[in-house]
Amino acid sequence: MEYYQLKQVLLSLPANAQESIVGSIFVPEFLKALGYDITETVPQFATGSGADTVDYAVRKNIDNDVFINTKSSPYLLLELKGRDINLSENSTQYKSTVSQLKRYLLASNSKSAQWGIITNSNHIQLFRKHGKVVHPSSRCLEITPDNLYEIVEIIKSKIDTPQRALTVAIYNNKGGVGKTTTTVNLAATLAFLGKRVLILDFDPNQQDLTNSLDIKLLNEDALYSWLDSKPSPSFPSGVMFRFSYLMKGGNTVTFDVIPSDKKLTELGQDKLRQVFRVTKLKQVIDPFKSAYDYILIDSPPNWMFFSQSALCASDVVLIPTKHNNIFSLQNAAIVIKQFIPEIQDLRKDGGPVALPIFFNGESITQAARVTADQALDEIIQQAIKNKTNSFDLTPYFYSLHSKAKPNRYIFNLPSYAHIAGAAFTRIPSVYKNITAYNYYLALAKEYFLQ
Ligand SMILES: Nc1ncnc2c1ncn2[C@@H]1O[C@H](COP(=O)(O)OP(=O)(O)OP(=O)(O)O)[C@@H](O)[C@H]1O
Ligand SMILES: [Mg+2]
Repeated sequence: MEYYQLKQVLLSLPANAQESIVGSIFVPEFLKALGYDITETVPQFATGSGADTVDYAVRKNIDNDVFINTKSSPYLLLELKGRDINLSENSTQYKSTVSQLKRYLLASNSKSAQWGIITNSNHIQLFRKHGKVVHPSSRCLEITPDNLYEIVEIIKSKIDTPQRALTVAIYNNKGGVGKTTTTVNLAATLAFLGKRVLILDFDPNQQDLTNSLDIKLLNEDALYSWLDSKPSPSFPSGVMFRFSYLMKGGNTVTFDVIPSDKKLTELGQDKLRQVFRVTKLKQVIDPFKSAYDYILIDSPPNWMFFSQSALCASDVVLIPTKHNNIFSLQNAAIVIKQFIPEIQDLRKDGGPVALPIFFNGESITQAARVTADQALDEIIQQAIKNKTNSFDLTPYFYSLHSKAKPNRYIFNLPSYAHIAGAAFTRIPSVYKNITAYNYYLALAKEYFLQ
């Protein structure tokens, strides 16, 4: 019934309807279709960042807490444009609207907001917020009278049953940049902060993550069998191991680990693809997304079945690089402009997206940083100039999300001997050494924690 009205409203909108028309005619009916009534909608919601107001904030009323009165704890923000604004993906106006929405979602009065929508009634895109991360939860879709119901259903089912976990692939196809070390120490840090964390060793040829935690496999085909099984919300025996560490104060910190096993390495690329497809890892992980806050996937330094599967299963990709290794920077660019779009084409839901790169494990002098910036500039210029596939890498190289940070800010995780040495003791460095902990805490805060 409500959908029928929404369709009529859409058909009645003039082709050039301005924002005020779209706002007064389309938005109330659209929010109603999503399940929100007028008392659950606050127009011009003050986000708390200066004079910034988002066009609409919505949240279900809870007993006497009527959102339009209390205006507290919004759940979904909607940034509206008129039809005169082009919101098709990659238009300049689309990009600036997305950054506007991100800014609103991360502002102080929007802490509770988990979803954001941009729309002008011609196009619409849903974004999800997890901690500090805002990532697309759908593609930017073109709305037509025919697909309108379907779009409402997709958005409604996502926002009504939100997933708990953020899934992160740690990846660079350049080897030795710190993927495994980052996975282990970031997981250990998030677990120490009380988050439920699962990590997966999806580099069966090296199994560095499995070895660095001294996990003794029960058999050599558990991961294989899990991948081969029907998706289910409980692990078959032998797939998941709980890593526990007794801290000095007497508290035990735990996180879950899926180690790698040999059987997967015996199949070869063609056979792997025949048996599983790169979407299979995502399918078996999905049922666990309600049990964890973070799922981190360590991947191998190449672009083959395992790393493709890891990216396919993830919301975002965290890319370690080395400022003094041009190949690690060039490879990061390839991951961002080529590999990730490949997986986006396959998934068709807007994911995964790259987080801005970081420098790992090398000390940086001022002169070395200037050299790195020159190399990055050159890579950025080349990617922009590419005639068939022009791509702006700037937001993926330089974090722009904070005004407090300098223009070309790139997070740096320092080189520290204890971090390298911890692999020998089979305990994450962050549990043994406060400096190492502080380094990874800074990483967790930079990217993930709100
Ligand atoms: N911040 C750091 N400080 C000191 N050493 C580090 C740091 N980060 C990583 N290392 C060391 O660098 C080496 C490579 O790290 P790691 O194995 O994590 O890289 P990787 O990207 O997973 O490698 P591969 O591509 O082979 O999987 C290891 O010896 C590790 O201990
Ligand atoms: Mg590794």
